[in-house]
Amino acid sequence: MTEASDRTGSATVRVAVPRERQPGELRVALVPGALRALLAAGLRVTVEAGAGEGAGHPDAAYTEAGATVVADLKKLLAGADVVLHVSLPSNEEVKQLAKGTTLVGLLRAASNLALLERLAKRGVDVHSLELLPRISRAQEMDVLSSMASAAGYHGVLMAAVRLPRFMPLLMTAAGTVRPARVLVVGAGVAGLQAIATARRLGAVVEAFDVRPVVREQVESLGARFVDVGVEAAETGTGYAAQLSGEAEKREREILSRHVADADCVITTALIAGRDAPRLISAEMVAAMRPGSVIVDLAAEGGGNCALTKPGEEVEVSGVRICGQTDLASRMATDTSQLYAGNMAKFLLHLVRGGEVRHDLDDEILGATCVVQGGALRGAAAPAPKPAATPAAAGQ
Ligand code: NAI
Repeated sequence: MTEASDRTGSATVRVAVPRERQPGELRVALVPGALRALLAAGLRVTVEAGAGEGAGHPDAAYTEAGATVVADLKKLLAGADVVLHVSLPSNEEVKQLAKGTTLVGLLRAASNLALLERLAKRGVDVHSLELLPRISRAQEMDVLSSMASAAGYHGVLMAAVRLPRFMPLLMTAAGTVRPARVLVVGAGVAGLQAIATARRLGAVVEAFDVRPVVREQVESLGARFVDVGVEAAETGTGYAAQLSGEAEKREREILSRHVADADCVITTALIAGRDAPRLISAEMVAAMRPGSVIVDLAAEGGGNCALTKPGEEVEVSGVRICGQTDLASRMATDTSQLYAGNMAKFLLHLVRGGEVRHDLDDEILGATCVVQGGALRGAAAPAPKPAATPAAAGQ
């Protein structure tokens, strides 16, 4: 049972929202508008001063919505049962988290095992939200989809302002300007949003995905589905399975014609738990017209384009390649609102009857929990050592 009590005497779970400390991160894990449901459920929310500033929410808005605002990080963390983050906590924060605290965030657990080890040593339990299962019950908590939507939208706008041409068809007295040709590779959440945005801007759009079920969705948005003739099954978790080397080669061959023809390529192809597939080679970039733009939304997973530099924008033989990874943060007001909506739903699932639940048999809590009781577990658990063969054992 938690220490604090509300006026009725029942336990109150104390939720803390620190300011994000990763460089360039403007989002915040809870916005004032998300507090009502949490307070109504008996949770108490404390926010670090300035936490919402980057997303357009001053401290006064949190106070008005019923949260307490504190300036002292130590005080904020010491009094918390649950700490909410968007991105990774800083080292300074980790040192101040009390034993028994639960940390929740989009922590990219598989890439941040050293941080998880430190949290485990401090006795902090951790839920990492990119691991939410793709089941309908978890849809309202799905932070990845919320952020991917923003990235797909913003990626097209980035391309539009970099292209030395119009997106739509233009008929003027001076002559006709043909519409820009946009190719979207990967038609999941980010890709479909990119298609819709490029279509609204008037571009001619083609798209491809290894999951054939998306053909209808692509076409319903007014884009042409490129038939590459390769298909990948969906894994049990709803993600595309990895293609064989041969199938990936075939995909590259067919895509190369479409890439050369495009003014703008938006790549979003990801495979859960693996590096992003390399679908656009250096030769394919060299064959594009100067002034063309590639926005690689898979940059965080290493990139779909061989020339992408994650986090950077580069120009190679006149082609601009955007590998920025902070697109969701660039739209911090709306992405924080969406993130907070997802987070509030997760919190109301995590906290029941005035207690933080540690029920790992629950499908959602079990899948997202990567540290419990001082040990890494689930997706963060160390791979089991291969059983020694009799020959090896004898060596
Ligand atoms: P993602 O971010 O893992 O991948 C993006 C896209 O890349 C996927 O559509 C995938 O099929 C595609 N891809 C992978 N390898 C490729 C290759 N070699 N060439 C071309 N494309 C490739 O997936 P995302 O966007 O997060 O979700 C995919 C789908 O999963 C969504 O469209 C949705 O239907 C479903 N989903 C369901 C959820 C739920 O039920 N809670 C939550 C989120 C998504």
